Amino acid sequence: MKITIHQAKTQIKTLPPPPTMSSHHFLPLLFLLLLSLHHSLSSAKRCHPDDERALLQIKAHFNNAEFFKTWTPQTACCRKWTLVYCKRLPNSKIFRVNFLEISGEEGINGEIPSAVGDLPYLENLIFRHLPNLTGPIPPAIGKLTHLQGLLLNWNNLTGSIPPFFSHLTNASFIGLNNNRLTGHIPSFLGHLPNLRGLDLYQNQLTGPIPASFGLLGDDFQLQASDNELSGPIPRSLGRVRFSILELAGNQLTGDASFLFGEDKQELVHLNLSRNKLSFNLTNTVMSDSSELDILDLSHNMIYGQLPTWLGHVSISFQFNVSYNNLCGPIPTDGGALQQYDVSSFSHNKCLCGAPLPPCKPHL
Ligand SMILES: *[C@@H]1O[C@H](CO)[C@@H](O)[C@H](O)[C@H]1NC(C)=O
Ligand SMILES: *[C@@H]1O[C@H](CO)[C@@H](O)[C@H](O)[C@H]1NC(C)=O
Ligand SMILES: *[C@@H]1O[C@H](CO)[C@@H](O)[C@H](O)[C@H]1NC(C)=O
Ligand SMILES: *[C@@H]1O[C@H](CO)[C@@H](O)[C@H](O)[C@H]1NC(C)=O
Ligand SMILES: *[C@@H]1O[C@H](CO)[C@@H](O)[C@H](O)[C@H]1NC(C)=O
Ligand SMILES: *[C@@H]1O[C@H](CO)[C@@H](O)[C@H](O)[C@H]1NC(C)=O
Repeated sequence: MKITIHQAKTQIKTLPPPPTMSSHHFLPLLFLLLLSLHHSLSSAKRCHPDDERALLQIKAHFNNAEFFKTWTPQTACCRKWTLVYCKRLPNSKIFRVNFLEISGEEGINGEIPSAVGDLPYLENLIFRHLPNLTGPIPPAIGKLTHLQGLLLNWNNLTGSIPPFFSHLTNASFIGLNNNRLTGHIPSFLGHLPNLRGLDLYQNQLTGPIPASFGLLGDDFQLQASDNELSGPIPRSLGRVRFSILELAGNQLTGDASFLFGEDKQELVHLNLSRNKLSFNLTNTVMSDSSELDILDLSHNMIYGQLPTWLGHVSISFQFNVSYNNLCGPIPTDGGALQQYDVSSFSHNKCLCGAPLPPCKPHL
């Protein structure tokens, strides 16, 4: 009994602190991690020889003595290896690796090893904050059909979003943000049936947003700001009830009024800043119970008037319509808009009234 407790404590001590997953959409992964930790302390389990072989290949590929020092054949990968977790297969006594994370380490150089594709029961795969992780995303990842969370963000990956991602039909979150990915956003991503979040922020992606993104499920979190996307936002996106939609810092043109609506109650972040959008804001509507906390439309060519609903929503953090072609009185109804700084409204055609100077009488 003493030995078990001692082993458990040692295991906790040798585990690095949980990964820093700041945004709320990483919470499901953190939960999985804790769940795996609990399992690993409560039952004895062997490392499946195929998993052990693949993991030792990954270790050999990176040749980083410090991070991989716990990864030795003398101990069970499911119990003792840093940031490797296992799960029992249903109706069996066999444990397979379902979670692997390598993040924020010094001296992880080179490409993602193809051996990750030989961990067939992986549900979560994380390589992040590794600036020397380079090259394309390896085709072997297409073999991981059990994957639910795939985080390959804050690295230095190049190439395009690979076609074999279409095999990841169980994926619920794919994070590829802050890399150097190029090429178009493939339209099959809109057809992945379980996808709830896609983060492509800060890459060098070009071309249009696929019309298939109109098939994304409710409560979806789509982040694609700071790329080189162009063309109009597909009208089909008006059908999706996004909770987060961030498309800022691209070259998107035309209408975006269809992203507003009485039915868009889930929407908390809408950031369309720094594009070439041009549409009439006057007739957009939003539900009174909307809980927007970011609405950034700045640096576009949006025209018409500020609609009265804006005075009623609790846009509690960030509101910005500066650098557009808006005109007319800032709605005082509801009072919310008078709380904002002048810089939220500046550089428009002829907006007037508090917090800007009063409207001329003839307006
Ligand atoms: C990345 O590689 C460079 C050059 O080899 C090295 O100086 C640097 O420390 C590496 N960074 C990390 C985080 O490993
Ligand atoms: C990515 O690699 C390039 C050189 O290949 C380097 O200049 C840059 O700093 C790297 N990016 C990051 C985030 O470390
Ligand atoms: C897909 O994920 C669900 C849980 O979200 C799980 O119950 C199911 O077994 C998974 N399917 C595969 C093929 O991994
Ligand atoms: C909107 O996105 C841009 C580009 O990423 C960013 O610079 C800006 O801070 C965002 N606006 C808000 C209010 O978060
Ligand atoms: C914007 O739409 C409103 C309402 O339909 C209309 O009265 C106004 O003329 C339009 N503004 C511009 C600049 O087209
Ligand atoms: C609104 O956006 C403009 C342009 O990006 C910026 O200068 C200003 O500080 C922003 N205002 C607020 C309150 O964030």
